[in-house]
Amino acid sequence: MQKKDIKWSELGFSYLKTDKRYISHWKDGKWDDGQLVEDNKISISEGSTCLHYGQECFEGLKAYGTKDGGVQLFRPDENAKRMQRTCERIMMPLVPIEKFIDACMQVVKANEAWVPPYGSGATLYLRPFVIGVGDNIGVRPAPEYIFGVFCMPVGPYFKGGMNPVNFTTTDEDRAAPNGTGKIKVGGNYAASLHSHHEAVQKGYADCIYLDPATHTKIDEVGAANFFGITKDDKFITPKSSSILPSITRISLMKVAKDYLGMEAIEADVYIDKLDVLKEAGACGTAAVITPIGGIEYNGNFHVFHSESEVGPVTKKLYDTLYGIQMGDIDAPEGWIYKVK
Ligand SMILES: Cc1ncc(COP(=O)(O)O)c(C=O)c1O
Repeated sequence: MQKKDIKWSELGFSYLKTDKRYISHWKDGKWDDGQLVEDNKISISEGSTCLHYGQECFEGLKAYGTKDGGVQLFRPDENAKRMQRTCERIMMPLVPIEKFIDACMQVVKANEAWVPPYGSGATLYLRPFVIGVGDNIGVRPAPEYIFGVFCMPVGPYFKGGMNPVNFTTTDEDRAAPNGTGKIKVGGNYAASLHSHHEAVQKGYADCIYLDPATHTKIDEVGAANFFGITKDDKFITPKSSSILPSITRISLMKVAKDYLGMEAIEADVYIDKLDVLKEAGACGTAAVITPIGGIEYNGNFHVFHSESEVGPVTKKLYDTLYGIQMGDIDAPEGWIYKVK
């Protein structure tokens, strides 16, 4: 697709080849300077560890077109830190935080024409990744690595946007209690494809994973964290060692506390006690905030606020967070990185 053909408001969450991407190679103990390239294909050894042993990871963050024509990134340092934690856990070399942010900046600048304009409802999604490459066959860390960043304009991740969507639960786990759930490795997502497919077949937007040790508590959604608003107006989000620590979630906790004057807690959310919540939602970079209409569990369907309308607290959280990301509301110090 050419940029001139894009109707920003009709974009979903799909791959689209933009002009330039960043690639850097690690060999003999160091990263090279990296460069912007046009080719969206990568040629790697058939023995690459990313192909056989899942030695790879990724991140997701967005650039936002602001009212004054500027472009800004939201908390890229947090993505950089999370990628470092991931790399450490699966024995990959760390991408320095400054290198990560610089690569994101370069990619946004080189694809400026693809940044959706303010008010279009779309944003520029950035996908940084690290893959283990080079000739290898045994189960061991790769001899070489590639760090890349590419981008594309996207619309809502869940089709409903700010309209509530329904989720079901699954008996399958995406991660083990002390496994890789809290880092962003591809294996977690491969493990989620089947349960996601089954949920969609049954007519739900996605499935909710329960805590892998007891299957009694909500863990998270396939590509987003879960949050609820309790009947006494607290923002609550699950505490678990097997969920991805969402940057949107930590940001929402601060928004709930400092902007909306609410108490924000991380605590267990039992799947058979959903009536403690008056509203619920999924949150993440791609999902932003997606209101949850209801959740199916063991044949029962629990509706929160409404299946057709977003709840008032969820709406306020969304408006405040999105307002900060778009530059309409003052952000806490250090959250916004101006690209232009
Ligand atoms: C499994 C999972 N949980 C939660 C999130 C939300 O995290 P963030 O808010 O950092 O995008 C994502 C998206 O990155 C995810 O893939």
